[in-house]
Amino acid sequence: MVKRMVIGFALSALFATGVSAVEFDLKSNMQNLNKHMVQMQTAFIMGDKAEALKAVTALGEESKHLLADEAVMAKMLPKAQAHKVRIATTSARMIEENIETIKANMDNLRRDTAQSAYLDIQRACMRCHNLVRDW
Ligand code: HEC
Repeated sequence: MVKRMVIGFALSALFATGVSAVEFDLKSNMQNLNKHMVQMQTAFIMGDKAEALKAVTALGEESKHLLADEAVMAKMLPKAQAHKVRIATTSARMIEENIETIKANMDNLRRDTAQSAYLDIQRACMRCHNLVRDW
């Protein structure tokens, strides 16, 4: 709870003022998300189950930082896009749900279920980025 408030405050500060120290936190959080996504893709391509599990666990830890409430998320979006905040929160939730799907489907029979959950996470990343960026 306290952690969530700190993150909420950090994000509000970032989008209200563009302070660079706070910006760095979001940036490093996002870069870590990306690192774990790349690790997971490599693990799936190589067929390395242990590495895939390691990557999805790390992604789960990191993505918890994204699960803020709508008020926080609204501040993350440019003003003109703020009414689309539901799309952003849905993206964050989709990531969480797909992480659970991957963890639950790592046996040999359901590998493609885990792999398509990985692709759904990528879609969720891009969905939110398309909201916050011009392209
Ligand atoms: C709730 C919205 C949201 C979601 C979901 C989201 N991001 Fe981001 N992401 C942002 C914002 C806001 C920025 C900072 C603004 C920008 O770079 O356009 C950002 C920036 C980034 C950056 C650039 C960091 C830098 O060095 O400047 C990377 C890499 C990144 N995100 C990766 C990811 C990955 C991978 C996922 C999915 C696992 C993801 N993001 C999901 C909102 C989101």
